[in-house]
Amino acid sequence: MHYLVYVSSARHLMDEEELLAILETSRSSNTNDYITGMLLYKDGSFMQVLEGEESTIERTYARIAKDRRHEGLILLRKGKTEKRYFPGWSMGFRSVNAEDLKNIPGFQNIKDGRFTDPAIVDNPHIAMTALKAFND
Ligand SMILES: Cc1cc2nc3c(=O)[nH]c(=O)nc-3n(C[C@H](O)[C@H](O)[C@H](O)COP(=O)(O)O)c2cc1C
Repeated sequence: MHYLVYVSSARHLMDEEELLAILETSRSSNTNDYITGMLLYKDGSFMQVLEGEESTIERTYARIAKDRRHEGLILLRKGKTEKRYFPGWSMGFRSVNAEDLKNIPGFQNIKDGRFTDPAIVDNPHIAMTALKAFND
């Protein structure tokens, strides 16, 4: 089992309808590909973890990277995992705000409030902690 985590910037602030459209396509193709994971959205930035077979998550990430709804993707981490952390989600989703993140270790130092902040990019474990925290 492999996983990868990235952050990116939306080209513009997303409304609920646009987020739902992303989720709908994601969930249907991830179900076919046995991919699970979690997508967080905050103030125009995304953080996503994909887990599944190595070639399928690589192929999916390549497709996501070409999507013009976001830009500036930064791959934070990829590797092997013994088990899925998000087994119940073809793609879990939370639109979060500062209040939601208040108690997540590491998020106190985020200055611009976006997932692409160096405080997160330079410390990918903060991203993993946040993604897992919203896995309920
Ligand atoms: C932030 C973000 C996350 C996405 N996550 C996924 C995903 O987990 N799985 C997926 O298949 N597509 C995801 N997509 C959509 C893909 O970029 C792409 O539009 C979709 O897979 C359809 O690709 P196609 O038009 O080449 O068939 C995501 C898009 C964005 C902007």
